[in-house]
Amino acid sequence: MNSWLRQTARQQDDKDLIKVYVATTADEPTKIAGYYAINTTSILTEGMVGQKLPTSVPAVLLARLAVDASYKGQGLGGYLLMNALELTTATAEQIGIRCIVVDAIDANAGAFYKHYGFEQLTTDPDRFVMHLQTVRTAIQGSV
Ligand SMILES: CC(C)(COP(=O)(O)OP(=O)(O)OC[C@H]1O[C@@H](n2cnc3c(N)ncnc32)[C@H](O)[C@@H]1OP(=O)(O)O)[C@@H](O)C(=O)NCCC(=O)NCCS
Repeated sequence: MNSWLRQTARQQDDKDLIKVYVATTADEPTKIAGYYAINTTSILTEGMVGQKLPTSVPAVLLARLAVDASYKGQGLGGYLLMNALELTTATAEQIGIRCIVVDAIDANAGAFYKHYGFEQLTTDPDRFVMHLQTVRTAIQGSV
């Protein structure tokens, strides 16, 4: 996560491949306390429960989300995730987006996303999705 932020984030952002959002604090405005990176994708619907869907659907990909070790456990990861969900719902007002998807790097990360209501795909246990309607409900519950 650290090396990606240092070496790749700016280049990919400049090429409009991804957008990176960083969090800083008033005490240390030049230090990145946490960040997320987001873009769009298309995902296969096999393994998703619910309505009949085409083979693949448009989605927002939460490609990265990380909090600096010194800020963990203080609410920043949840704040960044909610910020990404808000951005997703705002975009979905104007562009077709079925869900937000994330590929968890390990079981700990997967537990974090489950905590917020993401569903684990039976066909791909590393992949977690949240349908837009659930995203809207999650945002309403957080305000
Ligand atoms: C996962 C990560 C982003 C969480 O950030 P954080 O700032 O420590 O989390 P927060 O303090 O904001 O926690 C918010 C909520 O999530 C819960 N939570 C945090 N980590 C969790 C985990 N691993 N499993 C389950 N719940 C978790 C907290 O208990 C808290 O719950 P509450 O609001 O009901 O009290 C952070 O640990 C991290 O950067 N990990 C390494 C990178 C990573 O795994 N990123 C995931 C992308 S694949």
